[in-house]
Formats: sequence, structure tokens, C-alpha cells
Amino acid sequence: MIKTLDRYEKIILGLTVLGLILGAGAIALSVLEAGIHLPTIEDRIDPAAVRDTAPFDEPGVTINSDGTATAVIIAQTWLWEPDTIEVPAGTEVEFVLTSPDVLHGFHIWDTAVNAMVIPGQVTRVTQTFDNPGEFGIVCHEYCGIGHHTMFGRVLVTP
Ligand code: CUA
Repeated sequence: MIKTLDRYEKIILGLTVLGLILGAGAIALSVLEAGIHLPTIEDRIDPAAVRDTAPFDEPGVTINSDGTATAVIIAQTWLWEPDTIEVPAGTEVEFVLTSPDVLHGFHIWDTAVNAMVIPGQVTRVTQTFDNPGEFGIVCHEYCGIGHHTMFGRVLVTP
């Protein structure tokens, strides 16, 4: 014989349902508002031809006419090319990355920038640097014997 629910069971069940609704809401917001999505076929290039494929044929920083910057970076074993990104303070920088070899992780210290760099997949992540300073770039995905040497930096000038 099934007893009716205990008061505390009802409370826990209610909290569980609330948690599920909040979780589903957070996923919906990240997709609809923040534009977060899984890698898609449109952003895929041939990993064997990274250096012959625009924009990766010319890695480096471009200051755009609207004042934003685009930093094209190749993540490879075991360096960032280029390893220094120099931008003026207050600039919104779009980082565009890919890898010709193995999986790497792109993280800029003291920022929320933290993305996977997948061979042949174009990763885009945007960050505004309000204050001058130096921000380290590290690879956070183990990519082989030289993984710990994958350092770079964002140099934000006044
Ligand atoms: Cu690249 Cu670890």
C-alpha cells in the first residue's frame, strides 16, 4: 500500500522540479541569448591546409575600421602563432583560432576566455580589455610533451 507523500518529500520534490526548470531555462538562455552552440559544419576547414586557408594564411592582429580588433591565432604543438597579441585598452577583440594538429585549450588569464581549439574547427571568442596590462595565454588541454611550454600573452597598451 502506497502512503501519501511526506511533507519533506514534497518539499524536496518541489525543489528538484524547480532546479530542473531553472536548469532548462539556463540552457535555453545560453542558446537563444548568448548564442552558445555546438561546433557546426560551417566553421570547419581542412586541418591539413590551415596555413593555406583564410584567415589563417595571415595570423596576427588586425584593427578593424569600427575600432574592434581581430586576432587570428594558430594553436599548434607547442606554441601559439603569434604568441603576442597587442591591442589598445578598451578594444573589443575577437579571437579566431584553429589547430592543424591536435586538441588545444585557449585560456586568457584573468578573463572568462576559455575555449577548446579543435583541429580543423574555427573557434571564435570575444573579449574586451578595459585596462592596460599583460594577460597570459595558456593551453589548458594536454597536447603532448611540450604542453606546458604553450605560453602566449595579450599586451594591452594605454
Ligand atoms: Cu596545446 Cu596543451
